[in-house]
Amino acid sequence: MWYVIPILIGYLLGSVSFSLLAGKLLKGIDIRNHGSGNAGATNTLRVLGVGPGVTVLLLDALKGVIAVMLGSWLGDGSSLLLVLCGVAAIAGHNWPIFYGFRGGKGIATTIGVMITLAFVPVLIAGAAAILVIAITRYVSLGSLLLTALLPILIWSMGFPMEIFIVSLILFVFAWYRHRSNIVKLLNGKENKLGAKK
Ligand code: G3P
Repeated sequence: MWYVIPILIGYLLGSVSFSLLAGKLLKGIDIRNHGSGNAGATNTLRVLGVGPGVTVLLLDALKGVIAVMLGSWLGDGSSLLLVLCGVAAIAGHNWPIFYGFRGGKGIATTIGVMITLAFVPVLIAGAAAILVIAITRYVSLGSLLLTALLPILIWSMGFPMEIFIVSLILFVFAWYRHRSNIVKLLNGKENKLGAKK
């Protein structure tokens, strides 16, 4: 049962929401009551500006990296534990115990987890996502594309089965958390980057 400990630490680490902290520290607000209402880097950028947005993106990604490394330090070398610690961190970000289980959509933390497990696929999927965001200014579309491309790339590049399975789980997490964005994209009502809500 010892492996529950690193997974639990991963979840608690993921539950530290940097967008909520930034909102409180910089403006005394709950970021979930502003912009899109999401506790994430995109909404931080929208509500608090580029500097805080980029900082939150990096810190939310970093907690994913640290969670996977934790699985490696505290584990027995099994890649399953690394994967479980990463998933736990993303679950913590999406459903944080410290914030009433109302968190973000997990993309920055997914990038942090997956860049540690599958570097090249994340680079390729990330480049495609950035291109789509630059063209459309829909961050959500880039996030959806990124998480859909990862399992395809990971499968076609012959990564281990558990990494492919985690990428599928994270694809489901991300698309589930973006369901309101998907509806808005389909209705042409999604927020564009740089546009005031
Ligand atoms: O990573 C979240 C992004 O894809 C969408 O964020 O605030 O526009 O719902 P938001």
